Amino acid sequence: MADKKAQLIIEGAAPVELPILTGSVGPDVVDVRTLTASGVFTFDPGFMSTASCESKITYIDGDQGVLLHRGYPIEQLAEKSDYLETCYLLLNGELPNAEQKAKFVSTVKNHTMVHEQLKTFFNGFRRDAHPMAVMCGVVGALSAFYHDSLDINNPQHREISAIRLVAKMPTLAAMVYKYSIGQPMMYPRNDLSYAENFLHMMFNTPCEIKPISPVLARAMDRIFILHADHEQNASTSTVRLAGSSGANPFACIAAGIAALWGPAHGGANEAVLAMLDEIGDVSNIDKYLAKAKDKNDPFKLMGFGHRVYKNFDPRAKVMKQTCDEVLAELGVKDDPQLQLAMKLDEIARNDPYFKERNLYPNVDFYSGIILKAIGIPTSMFTVIFALARTVGWISHWKEMLSSPYKIGRPRQLYTGATQRDMVELDQRK
Ligand code: SDX
Repeated sequence: MADKKAQLIIEGAAPVELPILTGSVGPDVVDVRTLTASGVFTFDPGFMSTASCESKITYIDGDQGVLLHRGYPIEQLAEKSDYLETCYLLLNGELPNAEQKAKFVSTVKNHTMVHEQLKTFFNGFRRDAHPMAVMCGVVGALSAFYHDSLDINNPQHREISAIRLVAKMPTLAAMVYKYSIGQPMMYPRNDLSYAENFLHMMFNTPCEIKPISPVLARAMDRIFILHADHEQNASTSTVRLAGSSGANPFACIAAGIAALWGPAHGGANEAVLAMLDEIGDVSNIDKYLAKAKDKNDPFKLMGFGHRVYKNFDPRAKVMKQTCDEVLAELGVKDDPQLQLAMKLDEIARNDPYFKERNLYPNVDFYSGIILKAIGIPTSMFTVIFALARTVGWISHWKEMLSSPYKIGRPRQLYTGATQRDMVELDQRK
């Protein structure tokens, strides 16, 4: 992969030759692994220009608005696949045949229950704790129960941990919700699909088991697909970094959940709904767009912009279509928040500030409106994102551990005090 070279000319030093590596698609990379021998580091806060690893899982072309999972466009997976089939694809690299799919679905179904003692963990949390705070705790606690699959160098352990995490996240997410509303937790059912089972555990009670709407189940499944993976985003990079130290998979996923929680990342879906509530009416849009442009105002248009996409986020397009379908199916005509979101989208996308900066709606802009229509409370939106993204996180974790890797340990540009002697307390001014 290294037939091209880059030359780095540093004043007063001999030129440094660096290999250029070429992938199957996308930008070449300059391999700087030998650069420390020249006494310099690269400097790239926020990793704007840094490829942290080699991967075969997901490819994004931000300029063209393309998102491929193992080569398959997200639009095709959202339309023709289902979440568990997408999980198989991300984890194994190929779409399953009928036999493989049936086996995978059955295996996941038989791991959806959690250890009964995990329920006691919830009692330590306040009922009004943010659901993401509880998710960080209970997912991290899984490593206190599954001691039989923590050897990260054992491929079978890696496989069973991946299955357990994909299977148990919906159960844990629903437990978090039930705990927050004081309702009894529901056990998973093996006769339901992955998305139906999640909605069953979320909204049914021991007193009444209502059938799950196929429309809502399909919408939920599609939302899971659209959030499944997204290359080396902040939370996935967190999982890889945690995994590079040899931490167990449950601890790594808990780290990913923590990173996802931020409003600049997975917390944006919850923040979009709060923003729409704050804007309140179409007549206030101009005022809030002015705030978004004002460098002295911390307000940002939540659900807009992306580090990689400088075009429409392809997931946002599918999400918007799903939004229209779900609200129409539910007979939710002219949902005021959807109307406001669409107007905001239209005005912002025609505003020079947003056009010059290539700021478009991202995956979070419309997802909250669908989740709300399904009946999911805003505080649970990022939990849904974490549930769906777990397969992406664990796929990257598996990929990293399946070939030689090194502990992630970035360096820095130090601009602090140079060496100086200690001053006794009575000598200090
Ligand atoms: C996700 O990485 C991933 O793949 C993440 C994700 C995934 O699937 O894992 O796609 C999920 O996190 C989606 C993004 C959700 N976050 C939001 O919707 C929060 C709002 N968006 C912004 O915070 C911002 O757009 C980021 C964080 C998403 C991207 O920030 P960058 O890449 O660091 O871009 P930037 O902040 O340097 O912005 C460039 C310019 C700046 O203006 P100038 O300094 O050039 O004048 O655009 C402006 C920014 O101020 N800008 C915005 C804006 N986003 C960027 N101005 C107003 N509103 C916004 N939303």
